[in-house]
Amino acid sequence: SGPIGLMGAMESEVELIQSCLVDAHPIEGPCPLVGGRLDGTDVLLAQCGVGKVNAALAASALAQNGASCIIFTGVAGAAGPDLDIGDVVVGNRFVQHDADGTAFDDPIGVVPGEPRSWQPDERLHSVLMGCAARVFDARRRVVSGTIASGDQFIGDPAKVRWIHDTFDALAVEMEGAALAQAASHLRMPFAVVRVLSDRADGTAVTDFPAFLAQAARHDRDLARAVVAEL
Ligand code: ADE
Repeated sequence: SGPIGLMGAMESEVELIQSCLVDAHPIEGPCPLVGGRLDGTDVLLAQCGVGKVNAALAASALAQNGASCIIFTGVAGAAGPDLDIGDVVVGNRFVQHDADGTAFDDPIGVVPGEPRSWQPDERLHSVLMGCAARVFDARRRVVSGTIASGDQFIGDPAKVRWIHDTFDALAVEMEGAALAQAASHLRMPFAVVRVLSDRADGTAVTDFPAFLAQAARHDRDLARAVVAEL
């Protein structure tokens, strides 16, 4: 069917994938999209920008341009107490930690009218688990778990503990659950893989930028592994 949609938040993360594309051509729209072939497979690469609205816009743009599925690769803050920088979380459940309708007795994290959480496509999730295990060396943990998203960079130990305790989240980032919500409305299969760049505490503001160059290589290696399998 259609090309595989690949999504990343920041230019520094997608530019290495983009440099691997053959016959790359930009596509006009609400977010920067580039079509091309990655190791012979048709792909649509979206650089969505940071945050939930940008992720939803990019999902919609990918759908409109015929993507058959969406794979998000990127970094996240560690929210699980046993996880550390360099470990990998593949999302098996997505929540929006900044949604708050508790004034109307909605549970925390629930967008009114939306499910309490979203699940990825099962096959894509298992493909990502396999790819991550192969791409990363054996010292890194590759785990499946809840990813909590919000329009907040988390750099506070109390806040990240709250997110972990409230949502059982293993990773915190700013796009995954918005892609999940949009993908559900678009009936678009999706999955998300995140390499942990920081601990989402007071050290996050220095660890996160320091990890980005490495992250770009991880994103590229994961993207190639995924298209080889789909
Ligand atoms: N992405 C990477 N690290 C993050 C953090 N600490 N908070 C939100 N998004 C992130």
